[in-house]
Amino acid sequence: MDPRLKQLERKQKLYSLLKAQHETELKELMHYMSILTSVENNLVRTYLHTLLTDGLRHIEYISRIMADIEGATGSSSLTTKGIQESIADEAQSRDALLKCAEMADDPETAEILKSISVDEEHHVKILEHLSELVESAK
Ligand SMILES: [Fe+2]
Repeated sequence: MDPRLKQLERKQKLYSLLKAQHETELKELMHYMSILTSVENNLVRTYLHTLLTDGLRHIEYISRIMADIEGATGSSSLTTKGIQESIADEAQSRDALLKCAEMADDPETAEILKSISVDEEHHVKILEHLSELVESAK
């Protein structure tokens, strides 16, 4: 077989294995996040946080390798259009969480929801700056 074709096949195989691993890592993250809410024990919570941060890092590495295989064109996320969509999502989250905070009867719950809303506002600002950087790099 043509060695170049053989190499391409190997790459495709590697890509599909990485894609499957990417999905597995995501599934694990979702699972750990869902149990985190029901766990009070500090050691168990620390373990879950470790599993979550490791999983996040693994997803980052795997995504990077996959993007390399896809080629330079695979970096579709850092486009002005993509960032604008993210800004809209974050702004929507900010407004929704503020509304939830207003509806919460318990003041502590309201404060937590408000603080998440403030974070979302901060995310909007970060993305706006990111958008400026992408624009000026054009
Ligand atoms: Fe956010």
